[in-house]
Amino acid sequence: MKKINIVGLGKLGASMAAAIADRGFHVVGVDIDKKAVEEMNAGRAPVQETGLGELIEKNRGRLRATTEHVEAVLESDISFVIVPTPSDERGAFSLQYARWAFEKLGAALALKKEPHLVVMTSTVLPGACRKELVPVLEATSGSKAGKKWGFCYSPEFIALGSVIRDFLNPDFTLIGEWDKKSGDLLEEFYSQIMLNSPACCRMSLENAELTKISVNSFITTKIAFANTLAELCGRMSGGDVDAVTHALGCDKRIGARYLKGGMGFGGPCFPRDNKAFHFMAAELGVEARIAAATDGMNQQTLSNAVRCIQKSVATGSTVGILGLAYKPFSHVVEQSQALQLARMLAENGYRVLGYDPLAGEMARMELRDKVMIMPSARECIQQADMVVMATPDPEFAQLSPEDFENAKPEMILFDFWRVASEKLRLAEHIRYVAYGRGG
Ligand SMILES: NC(=O)c1ccc[n+]([C@@H]2O[C@H](COP(=O)([O-])OP(=O)(O)OC[C@H]3O[C@@H](n4cnc5c(N)ncnc54)[C@H](O)[C@@H]3O)[C@@H](O)[C@H]2O)c1
Repeated sequence: MKKINIVGLGKLGASMAAAIADRGFHVVGVDIDKKAVEEMNAGRAPVQETGLGELIEKNRGRLRATTEHVEAVLESDISFVIVPTPSDERGAFSLQYARWAFEKLGAALALKKEPHLVVMTSTVLPGACRKELVPVLEATSGSKAGKKWGFCYSPEFIALGSVIRDFLNPDFTLIGEWDKKSGDLLEEFYSQIMLNSPACCRMSLENAELTKISVNSFITTKIAFANTLAELCGRMSGGDVDAVTHALGCDKRIGARYLKGGMGFGGPCFPRDNKAFHFMAAELGVEARIAAATDGMNQQTLSNAVRCIQKSVATGSTVGILGLAYKPFSHVVEQSQALQLARMLAENGYRVLGYDPLAGEMARMELRDKVMIMPSARECIQQADMVVMATPDPEFAQLSPEDFENAKPEMILFDFWRVASEKLRLAEHIRYVAYGRGG
């Protein structure tokens, strides 16, 4: 049985390491962050992710971590590289961390007699592997790709909060291969670990690099389209975005997932992958108008929300925002529209209070003194003139009319995801406004 090395024990890498160990493989993880290594060796999750701590603890016998890249390469057969590829100011992905990791891997390959497969998992732009990363491996190992060691580009399609489940049950696996032998080896490995026999799409490195960012760019376009429908329905007498998107989703050519009017997309992947798609197209002399329009629509959703709030309550009023993460059940606030909304309202002279069941601390660090983070939804609502439900968290659907009673005679509730209970919607002291529903 092959031994696996995971380089980068972050949000994706740590879950992959634990999931692969759980499928019976011996896994060694490498990270430059000593704390992540110590956590994993102590049987704890180095990052927050559903089920990760339990899976690491369960598989301690097959899972260890180190800060030494050479040691990890020498004792494994396949290395997956899952280090950050942050966006740069142009919208491209920086390869700074990847180059450094590849230098270390190359130095280790130089010392290794046995064959080894290097798999780049981090998101990169077309051409990055062949032109930038494989040359680093060749220079530092002193040998050519496809001889002693093979190479693939194989990104994952996971959502934070369900990384382990998504990784082991993908719709498809994507393999960009340097050569057939490398692709065969990785396909064989995937067939041993995946729980659902997914289709395996094999192609050149460049086509796989393009496929990865295209998936996210396409999904963001779908979200932006649903939000366009929400804007339309909101202006139509009797308009109901959910009725429309439900019907659209029944058409198999369209599909129901990611087709719900609400706040715009955020998080660590969607916004940046769509921008990178646009950047990459421009580099090739193509104007990717759909990607640009998607980005524009996402910004518009936010500015429309600010305008709508400005129309409803005067500057200086108190706005309570329920949900600050980029989606429910998440502590991640990166590129969260709810967080941006809070910031914009505070900058426009509103007193803003925020609450999130998981992301409160992260939001506090981001927003500092601009927004007061409250310990509960009820406390957030108590002082507000207007409340915005910014994520479809089930906790908000449980709120009762009594939770909305405060000193004010009437409270405005703006519900982005139409999750409020009927009691709330009909309560006399609440003026209920649903995004995507016309009057
Ligand atoms: N998080 C996601 O939802 C997701 C989804 C799909 C793809 N990706 C891609 O996966 C990559 C990693 O994302 P992430 O969210 O896991 O990042 P992360 O920042 O959570 O984790 C990266 C880890 O790599 C470590 N690291 C950096 N340089 C290293 C080196 N030279 N050697 C060993 N470890 C090193 C860091 O210390 C960190 O622990 C990115 O390219 C991202 O676009 C992420």
